[in-house]
Amino acid sequence: MSSTYPYADRYPVNRAMPEHGRPEADILDELRTMAAEEDGYWEGGHVSGSMYCGDHDHYAFLTQAFGLFAHSNALQRDICPSATRFEGEIIAMSLDMLHGDAVTDTTPGGLVTSGGSASIAHAVLSYREKARAEGRTGRLNVIKPETAHPAFDKACHLFDLELRRAPVDPATTQVDVSAVADLIDDDTVALIGSACNYGYGTVDPMRQLSDLAVERGVGLHVDGCLGGFILPWGQELGYPVPTFDFRLPGVTTISADTHKYGYAFKGSSVVLFRDTALRNSQYFYLTDWTGGKYCSPSMDGSRSVGLLASTWASMVKNGRDGYLRHAEAIFSTAAAMQDAVRSHGDLRILGLDPTFLFSFTSDDFDIYLVNDRMKLKGWRFNGQQYPNALHMAVTRPQTQSGVAERFAVDLNEAVAWAREHRDQAPESGAVYGGVAGGMTDEADEFIKMVMADMMDQQLSLPD
Ligand SMILES: Cc1ncc(COP(=O)(O)O)c(C=O)c1O
Repeated sequence: MSSTYPYADRYPVNRAMPEHGRPEADILDELRTMAAEEDGYWEGGHVSGSMYCGDHDHYAFLTQAFGLFAHSNALQRDICPSATRFEGEIIAMSLDMLHGDAVTDTTPGGLVTSGGSASIAHAVLSYREKARAEGRTGRLNVIKPETAHPAFDKACHLFDLELRRAPVDPATTQVDVSAVADLIDDDTVALIGSACNYGYGTVDPMRQLSDLAVERGVGLHVDGCLGGFILPWGQELGYPVPTFDFRLPGVTTISADTHKYGYAFKGSSVVLFRDTALRNSQYFYLTDWTGGKYCSPSMDGSRSVGLLASTWASMVKNGRDGYLRHAEAIFSTAAAMQDAVRSHGDLRILGLDPTFLFSFTSDDFDIYLVNDRMKLKGWRFNGQQYPNALHMAVTRPQTQSGVAERFAVDLNEAVAWAREHRDQAPESGAVYGGVAGGMTDEADEFIKMVMADMMDQQLSLPD
């Protein structure tokens, strides 16, 4: 699986359009072989994040729902009025989960997008467009905790806003709210808080960020891409999850990914707005086009209704009791895995109150030594840097019986090995770890070159 083009020696490489079409059965055979092998990689529950559901019966159900509408275009509602039902209800159910009912002075609304980065981009775009409509002409900025997802940096890059980074407290991994306050100026349109962040699974001090946003008259986006569809249920179950949704008066937008803990197919997410006026600020219109009058609510033009149908189907199939049941299994598995980490005096969990996701490091040896050993047992963690750490986003595959216990056993062995080999350079550290002594311009350039090469390869054919 590590080779970029592992199938080149098994199947012909299509370097040009095939002259003659192939039989369906033959194509499906090939696809099934690849899918089965790749599914084998995560089905045992050793992979962090990524496969949030992992239930093949659920995938088969979603495939049916998708298939019924895959060919319909959500842009043309006269042909597929069902899209309005799916989209409206996905937004309404998400607003219900994130307490849109607490909003009394405006009408809340939302958009269904193609993923977390798109939801974040739409939120950032809406703040920019609203500010421009109000006549603000300066270079607008948003302020994110340094732990917030790169999608904010990307959105600011795309829409030409300045991104300001506020430091986090290394002990709690939560953003320093007074540093955020110091960064606000007349051109600030929004603050960001994560619920929870990708790196540590911790939630920023949302109540304080909300108070600050209200006091200074700026927006507050809550990035619930990762946690939006599981933290509300964790809170309801009594886990220590702070309130982060529309019950806080300063929260103006929330992103929450249906394609993560909503257990829908990849390619769907929701961004919610406290006020539909903010959402509508980024609607696109072209009224005098020769091709006819055009409008679209988001960056996509044509979209498959299949994604809306299957996302809707996942939500109504799970319902509150289904989401609660899965959240209970995930939170309790995460707690057991965190206990296994805490049982080693030379391992340290980063941050205060990690949730279904936790990150750990060591002050005594390079944590990538542990990663090297765990990798041999099939574990795939997300590698972090500054400080070097490993993170595990617990998903449903880890809730299978015996997985948390296996994690504890494999971790014992890996930690013992790391202690013995502390003077050795870890293999995986070179790829995933931070630059010793901190980032330099040369290292930055070199890493970008390696990444560009990787992306080029992923878009190319084998030699
Ligand atoms: C906290 C957080 N925000 C945003 C994103 C971006 O989501 P996507 O990869 O769907 O664009 C992620 C993805 O892991 C995330 O964890």
